[in-house]
Amino acid sequence: MTKHKPVLLKESVDYLITSKSGTYFDATLGFGGHSKEILNRLNKNARLIATDKDAEAFEFAREKFFADKRIEIYNASFTEIKTIARIEFIDKFDGILADLGVSSFQLDNPNSGFTYREKAPLDLRMDKNSNLTAKDILNNYDKEAIEEILRNYGEEKAARKIAKKIVALRKIEKFENTLQLRNAVAQIIPPNYLRKSLSRIFQALRIAVNNELDELKEFISDAVDLLKPGGRIVILSYHSLEDRIVKEAFKYEALPCICPPEAPICTCDKESRLKILTKKPVVPSEEEVKINFRARSAKLRAAERK
Ligand SMILES: C[S@@+](CC[C@H](N)C(=O)[O-])C[C@H]1O[C@@H](n2cnc3c(N)ncnc32)[C@H](O)[C@@H]1O
Repeated sequence: MTKHKPVLLKESVDYLITSKSGTYFDATLGFGGHSKEILNRLNKNARLIATDKDAEAFEFAREKFFADKRIEIYNASFTEIKTIARIEFIDKFDGILADLGVSSFQLDNPNSGFTYREKAPLDLRMDKNSNLTAKDILNNYDKEAIEEILRNYGEEKAARKIAKKIVALRKIEKFENTLQLRNAVAQIIPPNYLRKSLSRIFQALRIAVNNELDELKEFISDAVDLLKPGGRIVILSYHSLEDRIVKEAFKYEALPCICPPEAPICTCDKESRLKILTKKPVVPSEEEVKINFRARSAKLRAAERK
């Protein structure tokens, strides 16, 4: 099994923890790298609630933390944070962490279907019980919808040509596996650019299949509702679309007023709920990137509940 190396581990946990006996939420448990460090820094009265959509990550982490009674693990989306807090009789958290995207295990395990390097089913679901797969999108969505996904979620310049090729090829043979998609893209993109283009296309399909951007927006807003004054929210993102959402959401939550500038008095009732702690995102050191390639695109943003 490919071991997942936690990214910006010290930095993220330094930002997150304000009380050793507090209650924390790890939204993206994965292989428990961040959760383990959080638990190491907390005392015996502390609590940690963690979620992961992926059943394999959940099973792995459940075994890993079996003996630690301070942690409670859920195989659920982090958008369930409010429901889970209710189940656990938690009113507010001292800190909430999300390390977005997929783990090295998901990326490198051909059965997960997240890689374009090996032949695998075109799936890309983190939660294997959800209905929509990458195959469904490629075989059933119309050309314009596929183009939009590739452009909006992958920032792929050749989105139109690739969507047209996909729709032409699926009339001959339905898309079933990653190699078929790779071959379709290779008919449009020159070999030198193919790897980068494929990684953008897989990113785009993954975002669409898992509804990642909408879930992230919903999660941030709920997480801010659930933070104690002085509590921290820390988010690690791995591509510009995610980072933009985190940056904008934090900025919006920090604003005291959203009235138009020409309004004579404030009537908006907007409350400034966050103080931004990272004016610029924190990025990994060169040393970290050297030993962990996945860290190269990471950006950490942190904020404190007012
Ligand atoms: C980058 S990995 C986390 C790695 C973890 N911090 C560690 O150090 O082991 C991201 C994890 O988040 C999970 N994930 C992504 N979106 C999710 C969501 N909406 N709800 C719950 N888990 C999610 C993925 O399944 C994956 O296991």
